[in-house]
Amino acid sequence: MTGGTLKKFGDWKNVLVEIEDGIGWVTLNRPEKRNAMSPALNDDMVDVLNAIEVEESIGVLVLTGAGTAFTAGMDLREYFRALDHLPYHQQMQGRRSAWNWQWRMLMNYAKPTIAMVNGWCFGGGFTPLVGCDLAIAAEEAQFGLSEINWGIIPGGNVTRSVVATMNQRDSMYYVMTGKTFDGKKAAQMGLVNEAVPLANLRAHTRELAKELLSKNPTVLRAAKQAVRATMGMSFELADDYLMAKSAQSRFFDTENGRAKGLKQFLDDKSFRPGLGGYKRDE
Ligand code: COA
Repeated sequence: MTGGTLKKFGDWKNVLVEIEDGIGWVTLNRPEKRNAMSPALNDDMVDVLNAIEVEESIGVLVLTGAGTAFTAGMDLREYFRALDHLPYHQQMQGRRSAWNWQWRMLMNYAKPTIAMVNGWCFGGGFTPLVGCDLAIAAEEAQFGLSEINWGIIPGGNVTRSVVATMNQRDSMYYVMTGKTFDGKKAAQMGLVNEAVPLANLRAHTRELAKELLSKNPTVLRAAKQAVRATMGMSFELADDYLMAKSAQSRFFDTENGRAKGLKQFLDDKSFRPGLGGYKRDE
C-alpha cells in the first residue's frame, strides 16, 4: 500500500513527527547514537505525546526509530553516567521523563499506538515497545535484554514489560543470558504481533494503522484501556468494571456506534459484524 503526503508536525530536536492521512509517525531521531534514550529525548517524547493526544488530524500513533535502530535503550552516557553522581532527588528528576512517556503515558494513551521496530531494540527499548498497544517488527530487527552484559538488571520497568508479554522460560532465558533474538523470534514469543521483511515494514504498519483509523475512536479507546485494566483483576471485579466501561463508552460515543451497528445488521441487513465494521458515516 502506498503512502500519502508526509507533513512535518512540531519541531523537536530528538524526535521527528510527521502526519500522513491520520497517522502520526513518531521517529526517535538520534540515529548516530542508535536512538539511545537520553533525558533530552525523553523530555521531547513527553512533549510529543502530549501534543499528539490533542491533535485532531492524528488518529493513530506509530513509534519507530531513524536509521538502523528502533532504540539502543537508555543512553548509557547521558541517562546513567551523567546522572549517577548527583543527589538522589536530582537523579530522579533527570530520569522521571523516561518513566512518564515510556509506560505511564503510553499505557494510558487516548489514541491507538503501534511500535514499528525497524532495527536494534535493546534494554530500555522494551518498555515503550510493550507500552504501545500493538507492535510490528522487521524480521531482521535484533532485540536484546543486554543489561546483564553490562552489569545491571533490567529496571525501568523493562522486566515488568517482558513478563507482561513473554512467558516465564523465555523471560528468564533472555534476561539471564542477554542474548539477541530477531523479529521472527519476537513474534513467535508474543513480544510483537508479527514480523515482516524490513522492506515491507512501513507499508504493512500503515495498513494496520488504517484499519485502526476505520474504527470508532471512542470505542477503540475504551476497548484498549479495558484490556490493560482487566489483566490484574478478578473475574468479579472485571465484570463490574467492564459494565461500567461499556456505559462510559456509550456515554462519550457521539457517533452512536452501537445503535448504528444494530440497525445496519438487524434492520438494514447491510453488513455482518463478524466480517467487518458498520458504516460509520450512515
Ligand atoms: N547509550 C549511549 N550511547 C550509545 C548507546 C547507548 N545505549 N548505544 C549506542 N550508542 C552510541 C555509541 O556509543 C556510539 O557513539 P560514538 O559514535 O560517539 O562512539 C554510537 O552510538 C554508535 O554505536 P555503535 O556501537 O558504534 O553502533 P553499532 O551499529 O556498531 O552497534 C548496538 C549498535 C546497538 C549493537 C551497540 O551500539 C550497543 O550495543 N549499544 C548498547 C545497547 C545496550 O546495551 N542498551 C541497553 C541500555 S539499558
